[in-house]
Amino acid sequence: MGADRTAVVTGAAGGIGLAVVDRLVAEGVAVVAVDRDEGLLAEAGRRPGVTTRAVDLGDRHARTRLVAEVDRLDYLVNAAGVVSLVPVADVTVEEWDRVMRVNAEALFFLCQGFAERMGAGSAIVNISSTAAKTGAIAEAAVYAASKAAVLSITRSFATHLAPRGVRVNAVCPGIIDTSMGDSVVRELATRWGEDPERLRAARASGVPMGREGEPRECAAAIWFLLSEDASYITGQNLNVSGGQVNWG
Ligand SMILES: NC(=O)c1ccc[n+]([C@@H]2O[C@H](COP(=O)([O-])OP(=O)(O)OC[C@H]3O[C@@H](n4cnc5c(N)ncnc54)[C@H](O)[C@@H]3O)[C@@H](O)[C@H]2O)c1
Repeated sequence: MGADRTAVVTGAAGGIGLAVVDRLVAEGVAVVAVDRDEGLLAEAGRRPGVTTRAVDLGDRHARTRLVAEVDRLDYLVNAAGVVSLVPVADVTVEEWDRVMRVNAEALFFLCQGFAERMGAGSAIVNISSTAAKTGAIAEAAVYAASKAAVLSITRSFATHLAPRGVRVNAVCPGIIDTSMGDSVVRELATRWGEDPERLRAARASGVPMGREGEPRECAAAIWFLLSEDASYITGQNLNVSGGQVNWG
């Protein structure tokens, strides 16, 4: 039996994106898995009902072609993202543009483009970050700004699309065990002259639940927001952070 619902998942080669693909497949949804990393994307392509598209979402023309290729979709999950760890005083315009182009610009225009192909009952989930709310790591200023933009974009599209019955929400992961999470620890440890394993343990012990989150725990929250169980929820964001951030 073919799937009667279709999803587009960006960042599908990454830790959280791949977990979202797995959850959607388990829910019987056909998935178009998008990432710029063609090699890693092949892993997503091994799942039943998953087709892959290697696209650099920072390229506006490639983005437009991707949107044009998909006739209709029920779910859009914007999980593609890049991290940036630069001391505030050293941030360049080039770094600002590099991060904003993927985390904010691409996400905005994918919402805009794909919304045209979504009908009543469909839903979008954007991945922001608890970094959008805390500013706890000064080196993450550009990343945090880009993720704050995700929350704002989510609210605007939620208002815009509510009359059409399309819901738009966001999740804010805290510390999640993925390759991005690893690279953050390694880079901060280098910058701060600390041992990476000790820093990783210290970060995890700072979480009220005492551990990092797993990608599948983010995917579960994302599926809830996509699903009919969240039929009266739009314009919201949900922290998936083991209690580390407990405000909206
Ligand atoms: N891991 C964490 O602790 C954490 C915390 C908060 C938020 N997030 C967010 O969750 C999302 C998923 O991150 P993750 O932890 O799975 O990291 P990840 O690095 O494993 O996955 C991110 C994916 O996005 C893809 N990507 C980046 N730029 C792209 C581009 N221009 N075009 C297409 N694909 C592109 C990468 O190739 C990668 O596969 C990101 O938006 C990230 O900012 C992660």
